[in-house]
Amino acid sequence: MTPPPIDAGAAVLGSDPLPVPRYLEQVYWWAYVHPRAVHVFEREWLVNLILFGNYSRLRDAALDDLGATVHGRTLQVACVYGDLTPRLQQRLAPDARLEIVDILPIQLANLAKKLPRDERIVMTQGDSSALGAPDASFDQVLLFFLLHEQPEHVRRGTLAEALRVVKPGGRIVIVDYHRPAPWHPLRPLMRQIFRKLEPYAMELWRHGLEAFLPADATPASIVKTTHFGGLYQKLVLTR
Ligand SMILES: C[S@@+](CC[C@H](N)C(=O)[O-])C[C@H]1O[C@@H](n2cnc3c(N)ncnc32)[C@H](O)[C@@H]1O
Repeated sequence: MTPPPIDAGAAVLGSDPLPVPRYLEQVYWWAYVHPRAVHVFEREWLVNLILFGNYSRLRDAALDDLGATVHGRTLQVACVYGDLTPRLQQRLAPDARLEIVDILPIQLANLAKKLPRDERIVMTQGDSSALGAPDASFDQVLLFFLLHEQPEHVRRGTLAEALRVVKPGGRIVIVDYHRPAPWHPLRPLMRQIFRKLEPYAMELWRHGLEAFLPADATPASIVKTTHFGGLYQKLVLTR
């Protein structure tokens, strides 16, 4: 049964929660699942520190691809600490609609607290690799630092679902880690961090994100830009 949607600003969540995926429970419990995770990580300065001062630049790069004014139906796959979604809300056209899907009720509740109540926004508990939305039902899809946290089969499922739900001609905007330049001074540190804390992230150093698209995917275009010496990437796929 599909859990009921959560209105922006509402504090009450669906009563039939989906199970927490094993990789979140085992690998990312400290960042998202533990009841104190939100208390620890929902701090602008900490999120920015984790991204070496690049949070606002990457956030705005992603938002600019969605539009100075965002029209139509937008899907944000997974909640994000910081003000990405409040800033997206500020860009929504009066008749736009924003849906946010996350697997964790605690993350949806945290995001609901950050967003003023807004009829244009709906939050739903759901799995990025098995979205409930019909085919071609969104004008654009946003994936912000989600894919590096997912095991390969989930990452593939997430990308396949994003491609399925976006309309022909619609965009998928992805911001995530990328293999930094060989000279990058943070390369050894990031390697250690990934080894200890983010075991799936190195896969984004080894392969371009295109490698995780379905074999029969034929996007009309893929535009990739790298940032901060190549440590981060933005990929804009047009279906
Ligand atoms: C977008 S990612 C990382 C964002 C970034 N590190 C930040 O600043 O918050 C974190 C979110 O992804 C969600 N998530 C992870 N796997 C998911 C899945 N299979 N389906 C939906 N949401 C998922 C987690 O619950 C969490 O809220």
